[in-house]
Amino acid sequence: MKAESKVAIITGASSGIGMETAFALVRRGYAVVLAARREERLEQVADRCREIAPGAAVDVVVTDVSDRSAVERLAGGAVEKFGRVDVMVNNAGSGMFARVHELSEADVRDLFEVNFYGVLYGCQAVAPIMIAQRSGHIFNVSSVIGKRGTPFHGAYCATKFAVCGLTDSMRVEMKPYGVKVTNVCPTLTATEFFDHSRMEPRAHSKYEAESKMMPASTVGRKIAATVGKSRPELVFSIGGKFLVTLSALWPRAVDWIMRIYHDDLVKRQKS
Ligand SMILES: NC(=O)c1ccc[n+]([C@@H]2O[C@H](COP(=O)([O-])OP(=O)(O)OC[C@H]3O[C@@H](n4cnc5c(N)ncnc54)[C@H](OP(=O)(O)O)[C@@H]3O)[C@@H](O)[C@H]2O)c1
Repeated sequence: MKAESKVAIITGASSGIGMETAFALVRRGYAVVLAARREERLEQVADRCREIAPGAAVDVVVTDVSDRSAVERLAGGAVEKFGRVDVMVNNAGSGMFARVHELSEADVRDLFEVNFYGVLYGCQAVAPIMIAQRSGHIFNVSSVIGKRGTPFHGAYCATKFAVCGLTDSMRVEMKPYGVKVTNVCPTLTATEFFDHSRMEPRAHSKYEAESKMMPASTVGRKIAATVGKSRPELVFSIGGKFLVTLSALWPRAVDWIMRIYHDDLVKRQKS
């Protein structure tokens, strides 16, 4: 099964942003390799991809991104089947809501396994392929709170800051080989993320439910539209851009805003 079209691998493709990125990429004529742990959900996403783009090459590879060898098999399998990898979207991830002093070290290490090491393994698996091709585009999905820490998200923010740093370094290293690397920083997005996240205080879920969330399709379409462009970073929504800019210019003002957010969460937890 050699793809005549360009080939994209998407991790965390069984729901949310990854799923919508897959839909956006098949619409643009890509062959897609869908990776996550839930096979049944991946098959449903694959069927929908085939409806969107009849005749599209769609492959499902059950993968736990915290397993380096599984991620290497994912990338190697794509080359075997399709001959190349043009786009890698390192998107799989989950959240953790707890104050830093209440975190369990084991939970934090588990979160890093997926949110950071999963991205590292994805980058390292496709880099030699893209270097040999002298082309390719890697998207690492961080978060706007990978640019500014927020209360109750310390561990999650740490994983996403790590992704931002890795991505910035790699962008410059890969430039001589014609490979682009983009950091993706969504703000609150309507996905299953909040159901999957660990240690979520009751108050927090209420808070998320009341927030105006961005549709996951906005993020997916933007990623697909950015392929081949030299964009260091995609920061979503006016609120997201405001947060990133204000954090750089006036971090103490953001501390003040975050204090209001923190106190509101604490109040809701008690109510
Ligand atoms: N939603 C938001 O507000 C938001 C904001 C900023 C950034 N993000 C980031 O966006 C990315 C996608 O999240 P989402 O919002 O689309 O949430 P989601 O709907 O829960 O999707 C998360 C995806 O990651 C996969 N995944 C989780 N652990 C995995 C593992 N060990 N191996 C392979 N796949 C794994 C899940 O699939 P399986 O369970 O089938 O493995 C699922 O497909 C995450 O990195 C998240 O941190 C989300």
